[in-house]
Amino acid sequence: MNENELTDKYLRHLNYLRLSITDRCNLRCIYCTPRELIPKLRHKAILRYEELLRIVRIGASLGITKVRVTGGEPLVRKGVCGFLAELSSIDQIADISLTTNGVLLEPHLEELWAAGIRRMNISLDTLDRKKFEKITGVDAFDAVWNGIQGALEAGFSPVKINTVALRGINDDELAALAKLSLDYPLHVRFIEHMPIGRAVMEDSHPLLAPEIRERIRALGELVPVQNGTSDGPAERYRLEGAPGEIGLIRPLSHHFCSRCNRLRLTASGMLRPCLLSDREEDLRTPLRKGLLDDDLKAVFLRAVRDKPRCHTLAEKDPVDVCAQMCAIGG
Ligand code: 5AD
Ligand code: SF4
Repeated sequence: MNENELTDKYLRHLNYLRLSITDRCNLRCIYCTPRELIPKLRHKAILRYEELLRIVRIGASLGITKVRVTGGEPLVRKGVCGFLAELSSIDQIADISLTTNGVLLEPHLEELWAAGIRRMNISLDTLDRKKFEKITGVDAFDAVWNGIQGALEAGFSPVKINTVALRGINDDELAALAKLSLDYPLHVRFIEHMPIGRAVMEDSHPLLAPEIRERIRALGELVPVQNGTSDGPAERYRLEGAPGEIGLIRPLSHHFCSRCNRLRLTASGMLRPCLLSDREEDLRTPLRKGLLDDDLKAVFLRAVRDKPRCHTLAEKDPVDVCAQMCAIGG
């Protein structure tokens, strides 16, 4: 294995790259998409698959071992499964996963499996078809649900469900969503809503982890599950006898910055050391100018050097972060 050269000044080893392969999405979730239309990136602005692969190879030579492919919605980009297969063939990348909204999942399951994908995260904020349409703007609950069931049947594991906890919107359903972990081997993860970007949402009283726990308490005791070393920021629990798990992701009520091992690449080729800061390094321009691998490695090292110690989301004005969630990929 490569020595990890991507160690920042706070001694965090950054071995995890999240790749946004498109800023486009077939949904318009209220917490992600701004009300006014934001122009989408032009075709030419988006990194081609060969460019993405070159960047991942360079990252891998510096110590990246884990890649998550996100969007926008990654499955709307043509040729995504071929790209994933190429990604899987990069030796040092031991772990590849996908974050999807699930709408196009069912028809892609076979190809995703063939491309080497074994685990995925699917966003689902409600079990109610009407509410799904209200939250996402599209009547696609059934497609997502069939995708989730299909993924379990096909043997993907773990299949994780990402639920953003939204006061007044899905707070009455948290127990029903948590119960999915009793009925199926699903990992249901509740995410505190982050007020970032220009998506306008009334959020004066965010729904935080202690209240989320309170709302699912009727289902039984939450037994802690030991986090593995490569686990993300979720606090993991299991309900007695459940085949699945429950996770709490607490960007607001509990900083996990000290353990953050992530870098992000936007669809337009900007390397971002932190989701919650607009600082970024341009990889696309040097890449297209034909610079050598060593020069591109230097860009990675610069991004790592600039990784902030911690975000200030709970304290500061949210408009500090201007970039759109859909362009960064969560
Ligand atoms: N706060 C918290 N989570 C968010 N996501 C998108 N926008 C936000 C936000 N503002 C989550 C979605 C998706 C993942 C990519 O990021 O649930 O699963
Ligand atoms: Fe699309 Fe995901 Fe944003 Fe929803 S949260 S609009 S599914 S990118």
